[in-house]
Amino acid sequence: MCGIVGYVGKKDCTQVLIDSLSKLEYRGYDSAGIAVFENGGIHVEKSKGRLKDLEEKMKKDGRPYGHCGIGHTRWATHGEPSDINSHPHGNKRISIVHNGIIENYKVLKTFLMEQGYGFESETDTETVAKLLDYYYNGDPLDTITHILAEIQGSFALGIMFRDFPGKIFAVRKDSPLIVGTSEGENFIASDVPAILKYTKEYYLLEADEIAVLDENEVKFYNVHKARITKELQVANWDIDAAEKGGYEHFMLKEIHEQPTAVKTTISPRIAEGLPYLEESGLSTDMLKGYRRIFIVACGTAMHAGLVGKYVIEKLARVEVTVDIASEFRYRNPLIEPEDLVILISQSGETADTLAALRLAKDRGATAMSVVNVKGSSIARESDIVIYTHAGPEISVASTKAYTVQLSIMYLLAFELAYAKGVISKEKCMELTASLSEIPEIYENVLELKNRCQFIASKLVNADSLLYIGRGLDYALSMEGSLKLKEISYIHSEAYAAGELKHGTISLVTESMPVIAIATQQDLYDKTVSNVKEVKARGAKVFMVCREGVEVDEDVADYTICVPSIDDLLMPLVVSIPMQLIAYYTSVLKGCDVDKPRNLAKSVTVE
Ligand code: G6P
Repeated sequence: MCGIVGYVGKKDCTQVLIDSLSKLEYRGYDSAGIAVFENGGIHVEKSKGRLKDLEEKMKKDGRPYGHCGIGHTRWATHGEPSDINSHPHGNKRISIVHNGIIENYKVLKTFLMEQGYGFESETDTETVAKLLDYYYNGDPLDTITHILAEIQGSFALGIMFRDFPGKIFAVRKDSPLIVGTSEGENFIASDVPAILKYTKEYYLLEADEIAVLDENEVKFYNVHKARITKELQVANWDIDAAEKGGYEHFMLKEIHEQPTAVKTTISPRIAEGLPYLEESGLSTDMLKGYRRIFIVACGTAMHAGLVGKYVIEKLARVEVTVDIASEFRYRNPLIEPEDLVILISQSGETADTLAALRLAKDRGATAMSVVNVKGSSIARESDIVIYTHAGPEISVASTKAYTVQLSIMYLLAFELAYAKGVISKEKCMELTASLSEIPEIYENVLELKNRCQFIASKLVNADSLLYIGRGLDYALSMEGSLKLKEISYIHSEAYAAGELKHGTISLVTESMPVIAIATQQDLYDKTVSNVKEVKARGAKVFMVCREGVEVDEDVADYTICVPSIDDLLMPLVVSIPMQLIAYYTSVLKGCDVDKPRNLAKSVTVE
């Protein structure tokens, strides 16, 4: 969702801004723009569409040349994607880029119109630009603190004042913003990949802190305009991690990174053959003391939570409730101080998940997050953080972030079950050892690439699909179905196999392919019965089963056989063919795999 960048230094600023924005494309956007100090003024260029559309426009309009500027990729919230609604907004003396939503913009806009201001866009952002202009008294810091007292909602802002060439001002609340720093040049950005090409060193801007950058230094102030010092962070991701590295798409690259991602995530959390989460501040005593567990997340992360629920309840016999974050806070959940609320989020910035975290803390529960981005809002506000180590995930459709989230769910379940005395030390060690085998198994699962490509060729013309499974296979079906929908735009639904006959089977015809996942040994026969029900109604069946399982021709038209491991861990194995099928279907349909329409990677609005 909206990406912000800013650069001040000696380089060609337009080039740096475009380059940095391209690293934020994954966030999702529908228009882009830049503002650059040039010849004593601020040169603004903006355009609906992709960055290449902006570049085309600049070829006609004239490309700004300077050494200080701000840039933006917009994901429309207030007003359609259009040149006018694109950022930067402002006038000749002030230019801003904004990520987030200004909730009270209508009141502010009315006030400003009464003061004689005219508005050309439909955005909430233009209100902030005009408000800055209204308060501008020649002192940018003073002006910014004035507006901070008035604007409500979430925001990260990059600001330039014509009277202060060579300076960028930045401030944030509830939307991410980092300040990158290097010799003779400084940056602002929504996320680390935007600056990795230039520097690994950055500061995390906290709520209501103001950064002032010029080419030589960065100064930080609080809302009282007092100087503050901040701790320098060093990114542990390198530039290769944010490049395609020879793969056609980031998604394919990220699918292939899963052996390493899972290994890097679990290895430091295993000691003497047992799960070890103490380094994240989660002791065994704490873990077994919680009354109930809530898992709250959005999208793919929520699906990881569903697998977590099955595994924790099955192994540790502790009640787990999984919620979609956008629903959680509005259902007045029965959280008590003795509960553990687990927030799962790749980005650590998802607005609904962040709101759920705050609710959990307000109710006195322990908020633990499973997050991929170091220093993100969710990580910073949690009582306990378990970082996943997937590295940057650029493709909008989540792949490696999902499997590392699953890995943490497993470690938690194993440790909790052992701490509660429900499983023996030997069983816990055995399960942990099986989990440790996953990276190696993944190398074999990735060999299913050609098979998945073939399956995709059979699905590509379908209008609608069903994914079915039971138990853990059902939880995984949901993720398989989401993956396909997101990137291939083919409608699909995940259904509990046994529930089909209560309604949905009426949809099944020969033109509705069914992907049946049947890896749970105790449920295999039951799933096969359900598969036969759809087969009898003409559906083409694609069945995912364990290697060595014989599937009769009257059950499935095509099979995908995956390596066998403990039943509980099968979702980790099956995730990869599900991702590959979605990937190849999207490629065959000619879709924009890494940047599917209408979607954003980091959803910072509710
Ligand atoms: C968006 C993305 C999904 C992601 C979800 C949650 O909808 O498109 O891929 O699963 O947000 O994101 P998070 O960063 O909280 O895991």
